[in-house]
Amino acid sequence: MNNSGLQNANVLWLDTVSPFSEEELLRLRSAGVQVLKVRSASDLGVDLKHVDAIVIRLTTDTGLLDEVKRILRGLLCSLPLICRVDRHCLEVGVQAMHGGAFDVIASDEWSESVWRSMVSRMGRTPDVASQSYVFVDPSSQKLLELARRVAAAGVTTLLTGPTGVGKEVLARILHEASPRRNGPFIGLNCAAIPETMIEDLLFGHEKGAFTGAAREHKGVFEQAEGGSLFLDEIGEMPFSLQSKLLRVLQERQVTRLGAQSPISVDFRLIAATNKDLRAAILGREFREDLYFRISTFRLSIPALVERPGDILPLANHLLNVFGADVGVNGFTEEAENMLLGYEWPGNVRELSNVLQRALVICSGPLIDAGHLLFDEPSLSSAKPAFVERIAQPLPELEAVGDQEGAALGPAIRNREHRVIMAALQTAPNRVEAAKALGISPRTLRYKLAQLRDHGLSVSAIQ
Ligand SMILES: Nc1ncnc2c1ncn2[C@@H]1O[C@H](COP(=O)(O)OP(=O)(O)OP(=O)(O)O)[C@@H](O)[C@H]1O
Ligand SMILES: [Mg+2]
Repeated sequence: MNNSGLQNANVLWLDTVSPFSEEELLRLRSAGVQVLKVRSASDLGVDLKHVDAIVIRLTTDTGLLDEVKRILRGLLCSLPLICRVDRHCLEVGVQAMHGGAFDVIASDEWSESVWRSMVSRMGRTPDVASQSYVFVDPSSQKLLELARRVAAAGVTTLLTGPTGVGKEVLARILHEASPRRNGPFIGLNCAAIPETMIEDLLFGHEKGAFTGAAREHKGVFEQAEGGSLFLDEIGEMPFSLQSKLLRVLQERQVTRLGAQSPISVDFRLIAATNKDLRAAILGREFREDLYFRISTFRLSIPALVERPGDILPLANHLLNVFGADVGVNGFTEEAENMLLGYEWPGNVRELSNVLQRALVICSGPLIDAGHLLFDEPSLSSAKPAFVERIAQPLPELEAVGDQEGAALGPAIRNREHRVIMAALQTAPNRVEAAKALGISPRTLRYKLAQLRDHGLSVSAIQ
């Protein structure tokens, strides 16, 4: 993990409520924050390669944060999201932290030192994608070997397999092992992007092509020039756009919205789906000619349960990724047996969820069977019950007494620290902060003392 943080950050600034003054802009600049204003979440389709974070102004709820998260998921992109919240809307700030915000800051906070400290904490988010991958089971080793050969051949490839098996992982490997590795890898999830945005994201537009098109915008085919384009969940592409996609694949030319002439594009297409595309063809939801065009080579990734040799190596690998700085370094034999005996309907993604939960609960060096909470069986697409539970205001804050407090694991302590700091930074005073957190001012005082004892900084607060 990179612990050095950033000195300067390019941030997309999304605030539909109030523009900032020249003076506020200058303060941000001297704190190392370079701002690019966007008017709405749908403008996030811009090239995000050089963006370090997105700053979002929330008013009465976290709807905008959820919308931005959905769009980023669609662009297969993960960025720190900083939420600006009015001081009297504390609960929104607390909800935003629960909803995955990197940090929450008061909407009238322009202090250079606060923003500089924010910038220095960016760039430290653990990035699973940058870690190496696990292919240990003999069937996975064969798949990896085949993928390397397909990568070198540069042909259009279709990845199939159930949810969470590693289709995106394999797409990245196909890119990294190909002669295009020095070019860009651009991803688009056709299921996560609102239908109204897909056409613009795919084909781009000229300046002035429609009201609000103040700049020209390159679509993903152009952005992937010299590299690979990964179209995830291609089975969800609107039928009307499928013929346009087919034309681009045949002609290797793309016409931006509002343009007179086409532009030549050079990209390698990798598509993925967990849908049965043959059934979709029969149901007239997917074009047969497009299917033939994208499935020049098909790689099918088996469910995790069909490659049991991967389970423990993956569990240990993910533990290294998530648990390295919280002092958990292995599993008890009972936990290993439980991992091996489970069906894994949500595949590697579920394994990763299970381990992240285990790390929150586990307070010793080994994860035990009791720490393993599996996703709800028949609800693989729904949020697991545990996530619902931690999305509530933190009841454990009030419940924790002296002895239990001493035994809190570092992961849960860090989470508490982030939530408490967010409340304190946005509240006019501690009493209000405690109210927003759903705890008494006394418990808040106790919690702060405890966090301080564990070396966590609580200095920048009233
Ligand atoms: N072989 C692997 N080694 C390490 N991590 C893996 C491996 N396969 C999958 N993962 C991890 O599991 C998670 C799910 O993988 P990925 O997103 O590639 O699955 P997917 O098949 O694209 O899922 P979905 O169908 O939901 O889009 C990711 O966090 C990924 O990093
Ligand atoms: Mg995927």
